[in-house]
Amino acid sequence: MPSDGLKNARPRPRVLMVGFAGHQGKEYLPIVRETADVVAGVDPAPAATSLADEWGFPHYDVLGEALAKVDFDAAVVTVPHNEHFPVCSQLLAHGSHVVKEKPFAVTEHEARQLIHQAQRADRGVLTLLQRNFNPVFRFARENLARIGDPYWFSYDYHFNLAHPTTGWRASREQAMGGVLLDMGYHLIDVLSGMFPEPEPLRVHSAFVHQYRETRDRRLEDLVGLMCSYPSTGLVGSLRISRHHHEKTEHLCVLGTEGALNVTPGAATLHSVGGLPLERYVWEGPKTDAVRSMIAHHLGHLDDRSYRQEHFRRQLAAVRTIDGIYRDRSPERNALADRCA
Ligand SMILES: NC(=O)c1ccc[n+]([C@@H]2O[C@H](COP(=O)([O-])OP(=O)(O)OC[C@H]3O[C@@H](n4cnc5c(N)ncnc54)[C@H](O)[C@@H]3O)[C@@H](O)[C@H]2O)c1
Repeated sequence: MPSDGLKNARPRPRVLMVGFAGHQGKEYLPIVRETADVVAGVDPAPAATSLADEWGFPHYDVLGEALAKVDFDAAVVTVPHNEHFPVCSQLLAHGSHVVKEKPFAVTEHEARQLIHQAQRADRGVLTLLQRNFNPVFRFARENLARIGDPYWFSYDYHFNLAHPTTGWRASREQAMGGVLLDMGYHLIDVLSGMFPEPEPLRVHSAFVHQYRETRDRRLEDLVGLMCSYPSTGLVGSLRISRHHHEKTEHLCVLGTEGALNVTPGAATLHSVGGLPLERYVWEGPKTDAVRSMIAHHLGHLDDRSYRQEHFRRQLAAVRTIDGIYRDRSPERNALADRCA
């Protein structure tokens, strides 16, 4: 006789993994299997066949084939940026929930189309952003009020890759943006969780290229942003790059009554003048945050209010990033105007 808890437990969702043979797909696969049944995978990469055999699920080269042959509740999507919209749109048209890598969408137009399609189909499109499930960032959000009114932030996020970008990230058609879209999406989302704003930010940007090939393809290696929030007067700067001398992530917020310092491993509250007041340390492992993120999203696929809040926040992040690219690219701006 099952206990009440077991009797009422939801069945494990059936998941289709789209892009499972790539970096993120391989990271997520064992974690998804803890919460869900992986019923098939889609990936055209040569390595996909042996990987699917190893994990014991059927494998398809193209999504359409899987849609015709497999029953599933949700798809976990980890594909290059240019494939996000067509893949997600096809999944929603099929009636599937989507749990996907960032970015939610590349352009505001595509974000609005996805949201519209998801709402009509009564399905979720939930974005995997691990900082929302990292206890340090949670501590930072929950304790922000202790520094009074925030008036300045600086947020640095850098990789120290020694060579020019390769693979799909080096192709403008596939990457659809440089570090701002690829790495900056996480930071814009963190900021919108900490400083919810109804209005779009005012942003000034500087795009910098370390390598000639990335300059030629207009894929920024480094971006500097100066952001202001008109309704509160908060101002801040972001610096994001792939080829820094060290790999680092550091957010510092100054407030009228103190300061907050955040790295992925620790957050410290300071008084005005710098005295440390409280330090919260998280020693990971990172997979714990990924595990709770995936379980949480898969557990909230049918939660309409969770989905609605997610759409609102992701639309804001996409709109901010799309707006920065549009300000710098007359051609992207003209395309957006034609789509509007
Ligand atoms: N959250 C993070 O920290 C983080 C880190 C790395 C990548 N990402 C994101 O994950 C996504 C994938 O990046 P990656 O580094 O894993 O790339 P990747 O190149 O390692 O993997 C992409 C996989 O998708 C497959 N693919 C391409 N088109 C497909 C399609 N139409 N259908 C099915 N499979 C397809 C490719 O064959 C490849 O195996 C991107 O959106 C990226 O921004 C997030």
